[in-house]
Amino acid sequence: MKNFQNTIKKICCIGAGYVGGPTMAVIALNCPELEVHVVDISEERINKWNSKDLTKLPVYEKGLDKIIEKTRDINLFFSTNIDLAIEESQMIFISVNTPVKQSGIGAGQMSDLRYVESCTRRISDKAKGHTIVVEKSTLPVRTAETIKSILSCTNNEYEKTFSVLSNPEFLAEGTAINDLQNPDRVLIGGEDPDSISVLEKIYLNWVPNHKIIKTSLWSSELSKLASNAFLAQRISSINSISAFCEVSGADVNEVSQAIGKDQRIGPQFLKSGPGFGGSCFKKDILNLVYLCNYFGLKEVGDYWQGVININEWQQDRIYKIIVDKLFGNITGKKIAICGFAFKSGTNDTRESPAISVSKKLLSEGAFLKIHDPKVKISQIKKDLVGHSFIEDSSIIDKSIVQGSWTFSDDIFTTTQDVDAIVILTEWDDYKNVDWERISFHLRQPAWIFDTRGVLDSSIVKKYDFNYWKLGDGNQKN
Ligand code: NAD
Ligand code: UGA
Repeated sequence: MKNFQNTIKKICCIGAGYVGGPTMAVIALNCPELEVHVVDISEERINKWNSKDLTKLPVYEKGLDKIIEKTRDINLFFSTNIDLAIEESQMIFISVNTPVKQSGIGAGQMSDLRYVESCTRRISDKAKGHTIVVEKSTLPVRTAETIKSILSCTNNEYEKTFSVLSNPEFLAEGTAINDLQNPDRVLIGGEDPDSISVLEKIYLNWVPNHKIIKTSLWSSELSKLASNAFLAQRISSINSISAFCEVSGADVNEVSQAIGKDQRIGPQFLKSGPGFGGSCFKKDILNLVYLCNYFGLKEVGDYWQGVININEWQQDRIYKIIVDKLFGNITGKKIAICGFAFKSGTNDTRESPAISVSKKLLSEGAFLKIHDPKVKISQIKKDLVGHSFIEDSSIIDKSIVQGSWTFSDDIFTTTQDVDAIVILTEWDDYKNVDWERISFHLRQPAWIFDTRGVLDSSIVKKYDFNYWKLGDGNQKN
């Protein structure tokens, strides 16, 4: 095993998604002596990772293109040749998606582990010699047991042995490269000290020793679910207070600033908004709720379910306020949706509050004009499937097609002639745009619904529109 530590030359990651791609790129950058292979069943995704045009990478993250430029085809390789990568690697990260199960036992809550299981079987079949298998995906507690049990059923060719580690990823989208380069902590869970030390050695190339935490497998798996649950719980807490502010005359930004100054609480994750989106918070909490109920901890499950309930309620609340302010009727009205990504700095729309708010508005018969600086129209089509997309915006000027939508990457085109603008993502583009110019071509009486507190209330008061800001109880309208 000592020799193994010194001879680890090649690692691979199964799953070239939002986590697999950036994580391996950062390992390749910091460990030039390691050969890093990222493999995926999706040829389309791998082709994008190999694209010469770096604006076509499948993941948008600030600084990622520069790292890819420096490492790709030097010590970082993207391919669909999964079997070869497994055969040749001494360490294999599993970074595939772990969505919520759609049917059967635990549907709507439990993690669907089919992708994890399928690549574990492949590893079991194709690996040679000693292989360290690292759980990078977010997994239910005790999944390592399942992985170990599948790996133990391997044939005995090539003197295969395995050890399993848990090494959950804590990066946030939009800040992924900085989070990977300067993590708050790196968590390694496992039973085999030699394997732990091999993985630790990789991270020590750029992460200080004191930031590397070593725990049992189960603590590591649970810490990841619990971290996401705690973060989401703060957002639901401040969002519940945002509603209270609106009825009581308080201002949620002032309240969150006051709360966050307490060092025991801290200022982060106290920004109220249209609710948390992203691929993980909801699914990870649902998974936690499922596990709590499975182990007979109903009260604990109910507590965490409340975090999701408040999140859904917040989105519904915002939609109802929009309808109410527009005289209770939005059928045939034009509404600009500013921001479709689940947060700024990313092109990801998974579980974006913009999807649920847009669908509700479309179902009421509104015509939506959507703008986002990073999200592609093709993605919005997938998210709003079932609602017709109007390509030719000149049609819209003649007659409104109720319950349908169009897209523009120009904010002035998007806001032309609309009855209302709903800001759903906190892009700087919306802070810095010429709101006076926008105010000239709105249909009066017009409304701006600022669900992210992007605009400066004192400045917008000068312009010719009504302004509603989430969590601001001082509004007179
Ligand atoms: P993703 O959907 O972007 O990528 C997963 C990739 O795995 C896809 O490209 C898919 O084609 C591939 N895949 C699935 N099954 C495969 C198989 N059998 N063989 C080869 N490739 C396969 O997902 P993601 O956002 O990168 O998330 C991956 C995991 O990391 C999830 O468990 C998630 O909860 C966790 N996580 C995500 C984030 C995030 O910010 N997105 C952060 C931390 C942790
Ligand atoms: C989150 C966690 O922050 C990461 O640590 C974790 O690794 C990741 O989930 C994961 O497991 O997938 P991410 O979803 O990328 O990262 O982004 P966040 O910055 O956490 O934002 C999530 C949502 O909460 C966004 O919709 C954001 O707008 C919202 N949010 C965040 C608020 O409404 N208020 C806040 O104060 C912070």
